Amino acid sequence: MKDRQIEKLIKKEKEHSKNVINLIASENYVSSDVLTALGSILTNKYAEGYPGARYYGGNVIIDEIENLCKKRALEVFGLSRDKWAVNVQPLSGSPANVAVYLALVPIGSPSTGLEVGKIMGMTLAHGGHLTHGHKVSITGKFWRQIPYGVSKETETLDFNELGEIAKKEKPNIIVAGFTAYPRLIDFKKFRELADSVGAYLMVDMSHFAGLVAGGVYPSPFEYADIVTTTTHKTLRGPRSAMIFSKIDGRLLPAKIDKAVFPGIQGGPHINQIAAVAVALKEVSKSDFKRYAKQIVKNANILAMELARLGWRIISGGTDTHLILVDTWNGGVGIGGKEASEKLEKAGIIVNKNTIPFDTRTPVDPSGIRIGTAGETTRRKKEKDMIKIAHKIDFVLRT
Ligand SMILES: Cc1ncc(COP(=O)(O)O)c(C=O)c1O
Repeated sequence: MKDRQIEKLIKKEKEHSKNVINLIASENYVSSDVLTALGSILTNKYAEGYPGARYYGGNVIIDEIENLCKKRALEVFGLSRDKWAVNVQPLSGSPANVAVYLALVPIGSPSTGLEVGKIMGMTLAHGGHLTHGHKVSITGKFWRQIPYGVSKETETLDFNELGEIAKKEKPNIIVAGFTAYPRLIDFKKFRELADSVGAYLMVDMSHFAGLVAGGVYPSPFEYADIVTTTTHKTLRGPRSAMIFSKIDGRLLPAKIDKAVFPGIQGGPHINQIAAVAVALKEVSKSDFKRYAKQIVKNANILAMELARLGWRIISGGTDTHLILVDTWNGGVGIGGKEASEKLEKAGIIVNKNTIPFDTRTPVDPSGIRIGTAGETTRRKKEKDMIKIAHKIDFVLRT
C-alpha cells in the first residue's frame, strides 16, 4: 500500500488479533476468498435498483453477481424460489431490520391518521437487539416497542407471559431471534403467538444463521413471514445482511425491496454482495456442517467447565455458540466491566453484558458474553475450550 500509516495499522491489528483468544460472540474470521471479493474492483460500481431494473447503465455483470448471491442464499437455507424471496442489499443487520419495519409497520402520523405501529421485541436487558424497538434506536423512535423478556426462574422464554403481553398490546410485528440468548427458540410457538393477534412474525437469525445452515439449530423458515440475518457472525461472511420474505400473495418481497431501496438505502455495495456470495458457497460445503457442529460442541464444553469451576451460567447452559456468564452472582463476585478488562489484559477478548434481571447498570453489568464461532474457525476443539475455561477462571480469580 502507498498509504503507509493505514498499512501499518492493518498489520498491527492483524498481529494483535492473531495473539488473542477471541470470544466475541458476534465475530468470526472470513476466508481469503471473501476478502478478495470484498477488496475487488466491484466497489467502483453504482447499481441503484435491482437486477434487470437499475438506474445506472453498465450493470449486466453486476446483475449476474447479485442474482448468484440470491440463488446461493436460498439454496443454503433449503428454500425454493417460488416460496421465498431474498434481498441481499442491506448494508448491515440494523438497516435490514429497519427496512422490515418500514415495509410492514405503520409509522404513526396525524396526516395519515395511522396510529404508531408496535414492535413486540425482546428488551435489550434480556438479550434483544437495539433494533428490536429499543428507545435509543430509530426503531424505538418511529415505532413503539412492546418489550418482553425471559422468565426469572428459568431465564428462558415463557410463552404464557408472551401470550398475555401480545393479547393486551396487539403488536403489528413480533420479533424472535436475539443477541444474547443462548437457547433454542420454539419458532412454532412464536407462529401461534403471532397468529393469535394477527401480527407478522419476523425472525432475526443474525447470531445463529450459520448454525441453521449447518443443521445444528432449528430453521425458522417453516414458521416466519420474514427472516433477517447478518452475514458476519456464525455464517462467517463479510459484514452485510439479508432479508428473506415469504411469497404468499401478501406482496412481502415487493414491500421489502421498496423499503431497502429507495426506502433507506442508495446504491448497493456490490463488492460486499459478491463477498456474501463467496461465503455462501463456502457454507454449502460439507466442511461447514462439521464447523457448525464443532461451534456448539465447543460452547457446551466451555459452559460446562466454567460451571464446574463455580461460575453461574445464565439458563444453565447453551444450545448455541453463545454463553452468558453471571460473573457478579457466581464465582468471585466481579462486575462485567472489570471482568472483561481483566480478561483483555490477559489476551482473552469478551464483551461485558447485562444478564436478565440485572441489578447493576448497562455500563457495568453483572455478566460477560462469550462465543465460540471465531475460535472454532481457528480450529479450536474441546480440549482447547477446557484450557480457555481454566484461563478465564484463573484470570478472574487473581
Ligand atoms: C440479533 C441481531 N440483529 C441485528 C444486529 C445488527 O447488526 P449490525 O451490527 O450489522 O448492524 C445484531 C448485531 O449484533 C444482532 O445481534
